[in-house]
Amino acid sequence: MLVSAEEMLTKAKAGKYAVGQFNINNLEWTKAILLTAQELNSPVILGVSEGAGKYMCGYKTVVGMVNGMLEELNITVPVALHLDHGSYEGAKACIEAGFSSIMFDGSHYPIEENVQKTKELVAVCREKGMSIEAEVGSIGGEEDGVVGAGECADPDECKMIADLGVTMLAAGIGNIHGKYPDNWAGLSFETLDAVQQKTGSMPLVLHGGTGIPADMIQKAISLGVSKINVNTECQLSFQEATRKYIEAGKDQEGKGFDPRKLLAPGTEAIKATVKEKMELFGSVGKA
Ligand code: 13P
Repeated sequence: MLVSAEEMLTKAKAGKYAVGQFNINNLEWTKAILLTAQELNSPVILGVSEGAGKYMCGYKTVVGMVNGMLEELNITVPVALHLDHGSYEGAKACIEAGFSSIMFDGSHYPIEENVQKTKELVAVCREKGMSIEAEVGSIGGEEDGVVGAGECADPDECKMIADLGVTMLAAGIGNIHGKYPDNWAGLSFETLDAVQQKTGSMPLVLHGGTGIPADMIQKAISLGVSKINVNTECQLSFQEATRKYIEAGKDQEGKGFDPRKLLAPGTEAIKATVKEKMELFGSVGKA
């Protein structure tokens, strides 16, 4: 059964480790992440962007697929199904469809409107026992065609949003989605420290987990980050493994396109990436 992310993140914050949010794009991705979480006895959050939700035929299809897998694969570790960077409308649709967690990304609204919409969604999520993530300070890079520069959140705005009763808070600290440019200034630990001091025990979320050096990840966890989002890294490892398979001419063996063969190396590569991240984040054995 899907669970809210609240308990797993409260435990992570208290235990000084982070739970990985791995974004899903199709059946193979989902299966690879769930099997790895189970094997490593780690809690996990499956992230679904609005674009990926559309690609997978809508949120109800995603809920059906994930619930089916939890049962058929005998997954017993805590799993949350979470809308990533949800619009106000997307958040409502996922609540209806049976997600167990949502992110409402109101960072592009003026702060008053972000507050008002977040408040409304917090009330609905509380009533349904779902977790809710809010964002302050936009996270840069490209996601689903939306491009932004990484900015640092205002700690007072973070406190204002945290006080609305959200479960977890994504604060921009110079992190960006996708690959980091060579001239990237790194994470602003000063901002993170100030945000944690204002928000206390609130689990903090680090987006753009791909390509952040291990020492920065560990420092971020020590300063209150208890959820780290990873998407691009799984896409890159899937791509690389598939490319090698095709270049070796293996796709030419047998009869035509067989997803069981062609997508198997990529699926294994995702498992390896997820394992590496769970070990780095410290969530192994914490289910
Ligand atoms: P990356 O694509 O950089 O791993 O970021 C993922 C993310 O933050 C999803 O919200």
